[in-house]
Amino acid sequence: MEHEIYRQIEETKLLPLYTATDLSCLDRLEEILVKNEVRFIEVTFRSNLALDAMKKLAQSGELIVGAGTVRTLKEAKDAVENGAKFIVSPAIVPDVIEFCIKHDIPVFPGTATPGDIQRATEYGIKVVKFFPADIYGGLKAINALSGPFYDVKFLPTGGINEENFMEYVENDHIVAVGGSFIISESAIQKDDGETADKTLKSLVDKIRA
Ligand code: 3PG
Repeated sequence: MEHEIYRQIEETKLLPLYTATDLSCLDRLEEILVKNEVRFIEVTFRSNLALDAMKKLAQSGELIVGAGTVRTLKEAKDAVENGAKFIVSPAIVPDVIEFCIKHDIPVFPGTATPGDIQRATEYGIKVVKFFPADIYGGLKAINALSGPFYDVKFLPTGGINEENFMEYVENDHIVAVGGSFIISESAIQKDDGETADKTLKSLVDKIRA
């Protein structure tokens, strides 16, 4: 499970979650991420353009593209065929986890309870998504869960925003924070990405400070 991607995500601290509804935004999206040295993108299966977006972003080779909201084995397979290099799920999906382990693909299953985390660790998984982080107790819950699960690290998502992300980033039990607040299609569309670029720059600057 010691895949290079885990280390790289931990170094970047941000995992942008992106739902594609307009493929014409992809070039600008990529440009903004690269400029700010965020080399990851999680493209969610929440629109029918997900596979096209993954494929296009992966083909350009500038970003490490992952698939998010992966709820079925078919989605995991399609994602990998279209260039996804890691898989994020909102829950524990055994078929998806087994497929990823078999093919040495980093997988971040969604967890929210001790039972979920226990199930993930039984597959040998050491980094879990914690979702929806704000509703399931945020950092307080992560700190409590890290007692028994001292060897597990968390990728919290859900309700994380520009105001609270640094509290998560600074916590030792966290590899990175994920979410739609990092970059959004609507921000890219608004002013050719100027606001999206500024927002991302300010997040990255805070992490580096
Ligand atoms: C996820 O799937 O990780 C969440 O929907 C992200 O939540 P957010 O949109 O509040 O960042």
